[in-house]
Amino acid sequence: MKKFYLTTAINYVNDDPHIGHMYEAVVADVIARHRRRMGDDVRFLTGTDEHGQKIERAAAKEGVLPIELADRVVSRHHDLLKRLNISNDDFIRTTEARHRIGVLELIARIQEHTPDDIYLGEHSGWYCSNEETFIAENQVKNGVDQDGHKVEWTTESNYFFALSRYTERLLKHYRTHPEFVWPPTRLNEVIAFVEQGLKDLSISRSSIKWGIPFPGNPDHVIYVWMEALTNYISALGFGSGDVQPNFEKYWPAEMHLVGKDIVRFHAVYWPAFLMAAGVELPQRVVGHGFWLRDQQKISKSLGNVVRPYNIIDDFGADALRYYVMREMVFGQDQDYSDQSLLARYNSDLANDLGNTLSRALKMSNDYFGGKTPPTSCDDNDVLRQARAVVPQYLRQMDDLAFQRAIETAWELLSTINSYIVGREPWRQFKQTGADESLSRVIWNCLEGVRIVCVMMAPFIPASAREGLSRLGSDPDRIDAAALEWGGLPNNTPIRIGDAIFPRVDVAQYIGEKKMDENEESGRPARPRETGETPATPPPIETTQAAPPGMAKISIDQFMEVDLRVAEIKAAERVPKSKKLIKMTVSTGDDERTIVGGIGTKYTPEELVGRKVVIVANLQPAKLMGIESNGMVLAASIDGEPSLVSVDPSTPNGTRVR
Ligand code: MSP
Repeated sequence: MKKFYLTTAINYVNDDPHIGHMYEAVVADVIARHRRRMGDDVRFLTGTDEHGQKIERAAAKEGVLPIELADRVVSRHHDLLKRLNISNDDFIRTTEARHRIGVLELIARIQEHTPDDIYLGEHSGWYCSNEETFIAENQVKNGVDQDGHKVEWTTESNYFFALSRYTERLLKHYRTHPEFVWPPTRLNEVIAFVEQGLKDLSISRSSIKWGIPFPGNPDHVIYVWMEALTNYISALGFGSGDVQPNFEKYWPAEMHLVGKDIVRFHAVYWPAFLMAAGVELPQRVVGHGFWLRDQQKISKSLGNVVRPYNIIDDFGADALRYYVMREMVFGQDQDYSDQSLLARYNSDLANDLGNTLSRALKMSNDYFGGKTPPTSCDDNDVLRQARAVVPQYLRQMDDLAFQRAIETAWELLSTINSYIVGREPWRQFKQTGADESLSRVIWNCLEGVRIVCVMMAPFIPASAREGLSRLGSDPDRIDAAALEWGGLPNNTPIRIGDAIFPRVDVAQYIGEKKMDENEESGRPARPRETGETPATPPPIETTQAAPPGMAKISIDQFMEVDLRVAEIKAAERVPKSKKLIKMTVSTGDDERTIVGGIGTKYTPEELVGRKVVIVANLQPAKLMGIESNGMVLAASIDGEPSLVSVDPSTPNGTRVR
């Protein structure tokens, strides 16, 4: 039995999981299920990255301990993995003892194997606390890096890893193992980066407390990336005791699946650490693309994070799993929208797959008394197509061409439908009854759909099982042999049941049910903000002081918020929304559109002419397709907005402090 060790990136716990985390888990799950089906001994690891400044700061902001924040977010990850039907074999938290032991072992091995490769030195540079890394001088402009994150000039006495000594060895490895990074464009980027020459890497931090103390110097913690990457071996028991059966059995990994943003850490730092420690390198780093929103990167600070939990609740995990695997060309970026998800759900799942299944079942039910037909068939168009598409599909699965693999399964579905139309079984039944020839025709349809279910099992596991069991086939038989023609038993009870994928009225669902609650992101309903863009913090509660423990901000931070008096010149309701009002407001200098959730309390008519206070320097954000440029301030009394007002004689544009 071939082993297959597959890992995802471990997720930060500064925020709840979003579509990007879901996607990576789903892709890994599809690969794991496929490899298991092909007979491999799969070990599938995922987990959380809990140390470092990002988490320390997020916890301080909430007034909780880092571990409290981590515990809460980790439970959300567990919940999501369960709801998405992810079949991971292990989940590692970097706050676990087994991880600390593994990390210390890696450092000890480096010190033993290449004693000079870790040394104490001093380092100054532009430090980006968001990325937790020093940024090259040429990538910093006006105090921010290329991603717009603030950087600070920082000098630290640190431990260093002599990464520069690995430039040639890494380049040689890429040359001799071109499969090491996928897709090839990412490999080229990695090579170009390494060819510029590598700088030694600072691998400890004295400014951070939340981490694993550096061996022999507890004033330092281990640099979070060095720590995090080690999860892939610490989860296998690396360093724990004399015998490490899982490490022996599963390392090196066949695949590290990560987003394109962190390929470099996995393809440069990680192999260098392992070379230094004398540990075998992983086989492959696979970098997937990013889910975007309105062609923009999804980020917490832009407020455009997508968390389609309600899609999972309302349509099942398979709807989301199918969409992300079918819509995205693996390796490239893709825009997310609930609308496109539901459109695909209707056309592909409800119509193509669901209807073909129920059509075939219904005919078998009507003509053969609720059972599969008594006679099989081994020469027909559906069989020929199945034999043509299955090998093609398997190649596409192995090549990570998931979108094409699904399209290939759909070719078989389409052949089944043409076959039904061409054979007109209903006419045949009227003419000759349920004879042997009709038995063959119906059996062919059911058998074709069975093979489609087996092909689709890694993508939509729950629905594929349901489909198989309705067809009278063993739902647990989804191995390679089940892809061969002839597996459907004869004279076995079938079950029609309700539609596996009931059609949805997209306009109604998006318009009435979800958008009012969740804006565009499909985020679960939460206490509603008022007059906000999605980037806003929670509403200011009336008469309440800041809750104890809420982080204090400096006067400079407050001054960054540009509050101004503005006059509402025009207002109208946003179609299909009870709460949102689109306003044109004048700040004296400009007229802009702001969309605010104040429609439950105010009518557009009473708003016109009113002076309000706005946040003038918020990033634009889209609300129900309308770009909103700022936020109208309002207090929130149990969710009911109450506008902040100023003396009507105050000129438009006056700053509010
Ligand atoms: N903790 C690091 C990874 C350490 S691995 C040793 C990290 N965490 S993360 O939470 O920011 O991201 C986790 C994974 O989700 C990464 O592979 C990242 O690329 C992926 N995604 C984050 N946002 C994404 C999208 N919008 N779309 C697709 N995947 C994205 O990085």
